[in-house]
Amino acid sequence: MTIWTQGDAERTRDEAAMADVRVPVEAAADPAANHENEQVDAKTARQHAERFKAADKRLINCTQVDVNQLMPLKYHWAWEHYVNGCANHWMPSEVPMTKDIETWRADKLTAAERRVIMRNLGFFATAESLVGNNLVLAIFKHVTNAECRQYLLRQAFEEAVHSHTFLYVVDSLGLDEGEVFNMYREIPSIARKDAFEMEFTREVLDPDFTTDTQEGAQAFLKNLIGYYIVMEGIFFYTGFVMVLSFHRRNLMTGIGEQFQYIMRDETIHLNFGIDLINGIKAENPHLWTQEFQDDMVRRVREAVELEVAYARDCLPNGILGLNADLFRDYVQHIADRRLERIGLPSQYGSKNPFPWMSETMDLAKEKNFFETRVTEYQSGATLSWD
Ligand SMILES: [Fe+2]
Ligand SMILES: [Fe+2]
Repeated sequence: MTIWTQGDAERTRDEAAMADVRVPVEAAADPAANHENEQVDAKTARQHAERFKAADKRLINCTQVDVNQLMPLKYHWAWEHYVNGCANHWMPSEVPMTKDIETWRADKLTAAERRVIMRNLGFFATAESLVGNNLVLAIFKHVTNAECRQYLLRQAFEEAVHSHTFLYVVDSLGLDEGEVFNMYREIPSIARKDAFEMEFTREVLDPDFTTDTQEGAQAFLKNLIGYYIVMEGIFFYTGFVMVLSFHRRNLMTGIGEQFQYIMRDETIHLNFGIDLINGIKAENPHLWTQEFQDDMVRRVREAVELEVAYARDCLPNGILGLNADLFRDYVQHIADRRLERIGLPSQYGSKNPFPWMSETMDLAKEKNFFETRVTEYQSGATLSWD
């Protein structure tokens, strides 16, 4: 005979889902309690008799299916992103830093070049935490689908690996960790980008926040666009170009390799985010009003200006054939591509001044691209070091 823990007070969607799989504990030897338990058992049996259909799943505000049951899948794209993410497993400590340490300590870089490296370490060191925290605290709770949550768990781990990378780089190069990890508060061009992002998180973390209302669901969609499209899809890419331009000159190749791994992960994060945003739009077309679209375009344009200002701050005089004007074109070019992918009009029509970036992204998928080790990290039975 069993009784069930937990009462039936007003519950959140997650608490309700968890209550459906309450763990039985030994009952008191009380006939009245036994009668009550039989009723609960009958109710539980009924719940389990009705199997859900994949078609009943919804990305947000799902009421038919609880979030504990992964199968049957509905959103196969979410599962594919999860499997692809797992196939890319890597750890920063596996990347040798000897050459970078030599370059850094032997003063082979100019002051302008060191500034570019430092600014990007500072930006990413905290941006990875902002993304991870937003994902776990703001996004996870409101995505009411098991396969998407499976991917979000994988992404959360990858964000932790990325944060770990910056600590590893700071340690390896003997940098001042206080300087790097405080840049998000102390360097205005970084602080402005982060403040822009944190506003999206703050809205969803409000204790009264819900996606049940039109306004709330739109704010949630805005958060997804703010992080997946702007932070991971635009802000990160300027940093990728800057750091990988060193790698192309055979400088700071350890950091360059780590950035290639991060970029490969972030490409999947971006693609998942786009699928999630488009999926929510398709299921909730009433959210995608003209006013909302105009607001999103306005925010992306604002983000582009923040990013151009950041590039100008990183490269006040230009280095390595890079300068702030080229970055204006680049940021505008990728912003257009991101807008198009979520069904918003492109704004700028700028050309990509760094065509080698797409080549770098393709090469990052191939084996033996790096001198040091394979890029297609495999684990377990498929481990291969050729
Ligand atoms: Fe990341
Ligand atoms: Fe990410």
